[in-house]
Amino acid sequence: MTNAEQVMATESKYYLPVFARYPIVLERGEGPYVWDIEGKKYLDFLAGIAVNILGHAHPRLVAAIAGQAGKLIHVSNLYYTAEQTKLAKTLVELTGLDRAFICNSGAEANEGAIKLARKYGKTLAADKVEIITAEHSFHGRTLATLTATGQPKYRQGYEPLPGGFSYVPFGDLAALEKAVSAKTCAVMLEPIQGEGGVNIPDPSYLEGARELCDKYGALLILDEIQSGMGRTGKLLAWQQIGVKPDIMTLAKGLGGGVPIGAILATDEAAKAFHAGDHGTTFGGNPLACAAANATLAVLVEEDLPANAAKMGKYMVDALNGLKGKYPALIAEVRGQGLIIGMRMTKPGKDMVNACMAAGALINCTAGDVLRFVPPLNIGTNHVDEMIAILDKVFAAEQ
Ligand SMILES: Cc1ncc(COP(=O)(O)O)c(C=O)c1O
Repeated sequence: MTNAEQVMATESKYYLPVFARYPIVLERGEGPYVWDIEGKKYLDFLAGIAVNILGHAHPRLVAAIAGQAGKLIHVSNLYYTAEQTKLAKTLVELTGLDRAFICNSGAEANEGAIKLARKYGKTLAADKVEIITAEHSFHGRTLATLTATGQPKYRQGYEPLPGGFSYVPFGDLAALEKAVSAKTCAVMLEPIQGEGGVNIPDPSYLEGARELCDKYGALLILDEIQSGMGRTGKLLAWQQIGVKPDIMTLAKGLGGGVPIGAILATDEAAKAFHAGDHGTTFGGNPLACAAANATLAVLVEEDLPANAAKMGKYMVDALNGLKGKYPALIAEVRGQGLIIGMRMTKPGKDMVNACMAAGALINCTAGDVLRFVPPLNIGTNHVDEMIAILDKVFAAEQ
């Protein structure tokens, strides 16, 4: 047995069998590249599913984590730490919202956002508890967030589910208008659906959702877990169109790979929470916050959102070039900054595997959409390398 086979055999014996993993064992990374345990190099255009925004082993992130680990890793939220306070202040200043809460993951951030919306609704009316989300959305794997997720496959088998959730077609303002009522405490949307297939609504959709929330006294929750942290070309996708939410959530890229999530809220929404209403043991610990502070510092100083916009345009143009070359294989290219989807005319799984064999990591979402969410500090040379691999894979596939 090779080392890789040994790791995979051990996993299949001891790990809960919930993941359908690709058959490689990753060992180290540098910039936009990772190496497997057998020494094979891959261009990483999946970046831990839109997480490693600085690439792998970024020296400033490594130094921040190592420095903080040698000082203080964890103390609980019974005490103050300067790293957590600094992160909350930075997030508030960068987003224009008023208050932050730090947790450990995207699902946890959304779970907290849902709890805050419920509490807020009840300050207005006992039955103002309903939450509307979009079909094809993805909000996480906890019971409340998988219920918020507008894809039945994630809910099946977990009934009874928390009540009070309903779903509307994404991008359809008339459907949202029909669904919203005085009982709605929140409308929860991804500005761009990531797991749902990189679905980008018309800007008027979020504007209309904002207006409907204002009209009915409901909160607009924007899940920026995949679309945020500079990926679309601005720090947050909603900043592209100026539709400000009442609550927003972050995770994925926030810690550059260290697990962390955040809830941001306006003062108006935040006043529904009082001491004891929500909490976490690990959330906001100094190690994770130091990683997020370093990641945000690099993102701002190097203007990574601007690079994402530039590289995104370069890549979409190149992908459209491939679309011209392989019209029977490629149906559509859609993207904003460095969240890019390429809808194929057949399931994408085999092409993902072929890319991996050719030395590039991507994935397929919604069955037929190849998804590219690389680190935000890539250059045109990395895009060219990805396009050359795709060209080879498509030539063999058509
Ligand atoms: C938009 C969105 N929300 C929430 C989540 C859940 O985040 P996590 O896996 O960190 O719980 C994801 C993960 O893919 C996501 O893309």
